[in-house]
Amino acid sequence: MKQKLFDKFAELFGNSEGAHFYFAPGRVNLIGEHTDYNGGHVFPCALTMGTYGVARKRDDRKMNFYSMNLDSFGVVETSLDDLTNKKEYNWANYPLGVVWTFAEKGRRLETGFDMVIWGNIPNGSGLSSSAALEVLTGVIVTDLFGIKDFSMTDLALIGQYCENKFIGCNCGIMDQFASANGKKDNAIFLDTNTLKYEYAPIKLDDAKIIITNSKVKHSLVDSAYNDRRQECTDALAALKTKLDIETLGDLSPEEFEANKDLIADPIQQKRAKHAVYENQRTLDAVAALKDGDIVKFGQLMNQSHISLRDDYEVSCEEIDILVDLAWAIPGVIGSRITGGGFGGCTVSIVKNDTVDRFIESIGSAYKEKVGHEAEFYTVDIGDGASRLD
Ligand code: GLA
Repeated sequence: MKQKLFDKFAELFGNSEGAHFYFAPGRVNLIGEHTDYNGGHVFPCALTMGTYGVARKRDDRKMNFYSMNLDSFGVVETSLDDLTNKKEYNWANYPLGVVWTFAEKGRRLETGFDMVIWGNIPNGSGLSSSAALEVLTGVIVTDLFGIKDFSMTDLALIGQYCENKFIGCNCGIMDQFASANGKKDNAIFLDTNTLKYEYAPIKLDDAKIIITNSKVKHSLVDSAYNDRRQECTDALAALKTKLDIETLGDLSPEEFEANKDLIADPIQQKRAKHAVYENQRTLDAVAALKDGDIVKFGQLMNQSHISLRDDYEVSCEEIDILVDLAWAIPGVIGSRITGGGFGGCTVSIVKNDTVDRFIESIGSAYKEKVGHEAEFYTVDIGDGASRLD
């Protein structure tokens, strides 16, 4: 792929002398869903799937972006003199927004750059192709322009800022953090309140992590995501009338139960319940993993799904079909929706000797019930974003 990217770069921009090669991964979250904007914990890992880029500095103020996945858009031409989101820029609003964010943070670029990308994260699958693109751009900009004082966590925060303020999705920090700070064969146990994190080795001797792509994406993804976030903010405000807390993540399930009636709105109460219990589940799941108790880890994943389905209401029919099918197979240790929701993927832990059966039986039953095929990927946990050459 590297050669193809360099060839494309040379075709579009004359030659590829002095251009460099970069990568940023997508992510899958094992547990801790919709907790990252509630001051809770998450447990994602970076994938070996992600977005590759070749980039080189220019002498003028132009920034040219080209995606080999979306070549119908051609070269998207932008300028440092007009860092505004434009509908016709489509996907290129992400790298442009990252450049805008650098300017917002006091790092105005004097000259532009050319960038060609190609990614193998299935589009719209909820495996964070947009976070990968943001972090990729952050790595490219710091490398090309010799910006040395931004850590990988800073680049994750820049990606999130771009997404929140330039793109308009009020996402938390998880996806960009995982893409920036991923580590091969490890998941990241992250406290989103403090951004303190530790790596937890994922050594499943007799099981594999399988992602199942429902290949549906419902159009309400961004708006419903922002609605959920608002409902949590409102629930927190209601709790704060009596409690001295900063985030929903400050509450244990017991404290929540004792105070939940402060939240008058039943929908908001359900959303907050999910955030509080999911945070506890994440702590319990990481402890179970450290104890080698993968069965308990799987049970917590299943409970996470039930809560996301019933209390947080971010699942959908197709995803519930996949999860129900998975739960019915002996040898499936746990299965749940992963990511923002309303379609996308499930993540399952499946015993090695069950993997073939899992793929065959879920594959055919899903096709029969839903009318199109699901896709399956065995997870290889990879490193965070970097320059590769
Ligand atoms: C999306 C967001 C993340 C996180 C998840 C849900 O992936 O980008 O910040 O909120 O949804 O856990």
